[in-house]
Amino acid sequence: MASTQWLTTEDLARHYRRGTHTVKAVDGVNIVIERGEFVAVVGASGSGKSTLLNLLAGLDTPTCGRIVVDNTALSTFNRRELATYRARTVGMVFQSFNLIGHHTALGNVEMALYFTETPRSKRRQLAMAMLERVGLSDRTDHRPADLSGGEQQRVALARALVKRPEVILADEPTGNLDQQNTEQIAHLLQRLNAEDNLTVIMVTHDADLARKCAHRTIRMHYGRLIKPNSADGGEAAS
Ligand SMILES: Nc1ncnc2c1ncn2[C@@H]1O[C@H](COP(=O)(O)OP(=O)(O)OP(=O)(O)O)[C@@H](O)[C@H]1O
Ligand SMILES: [Mg+2]
Repeated sequence: MASTQWLTTEDLARHYRRGTHTVKAVDGVNIVIERGEFVAVVGASGSGKSTLLNLLAGLDTPTCGRIVVDNTALSTFNRRELATYRARTVGMVFQSFNLIGHHTALGNVEMALYFTETPRSKRRQLAMAMLERVGLSDRTDHRPADLSGGEQQRVALARALVKRPEVILADEPTGNLDQQNTEQIAHLLQRLNAEDNLTVIMVTHDADLARKCAHRTIRMHYGRLIKPNSADGGEAAS
């Protein structure tokens, strides 16, 4: 595993104002993510996991604190740099797959390359190669409705990976899957992490899964990090 630092957060916070009430969804989080790490984020519903992931993805703006990527604060990125960061540096995967229903598996993966400079023929070739990588070369012409949940999630993963991101941010990628498909997705993420040095940050409710596939576990509680039990193999949090 490479040991260069990729991202740090400094007193990162995201508060939501609701009338007179403030929800501290993320509340003073300090983390360091190394390149090539596989980090699991666990915590009860509402503890701020998705909010944290969206901040790291550059999809949401902190109320205070900073995110520093490769020694540059995300807040100093201009529009173009931020767009590149969102589109190319990080790839996102969600619980609900978010595939386009009227496109085939191949079409869904190819679509991710529409707004890049990749020529059309190359787009198809790259999408095919990525579907093969996730074990779906015999399902390329299926529409999402004609795929199992696990297969749909593998298409979503291929769509995220086809742009060759450095990091995958996955928000409960196995939340809608049965045990067997959960293991398949987890195994795939582990392989990509080990073979391609892909950095993976995965939110999950499943503490067992986190323990099995991540190098360490970050535990959230009411927007803050808490020190995980030593049994989780995680490291001390802020
Ligand atoms: N747009 C918003 N406006 C107000 N409050 C919000 C908003 N988005 C999230 N919250 C609140 O912030 C807190 C953290 O939400 P978040 O979605 O990050 O939790 P989570 O840990 O991902 O939960 P789950 O496991 O259920 O997905 C919750 O209390 C939620 O109600
Ligand atoms: Mg969530």
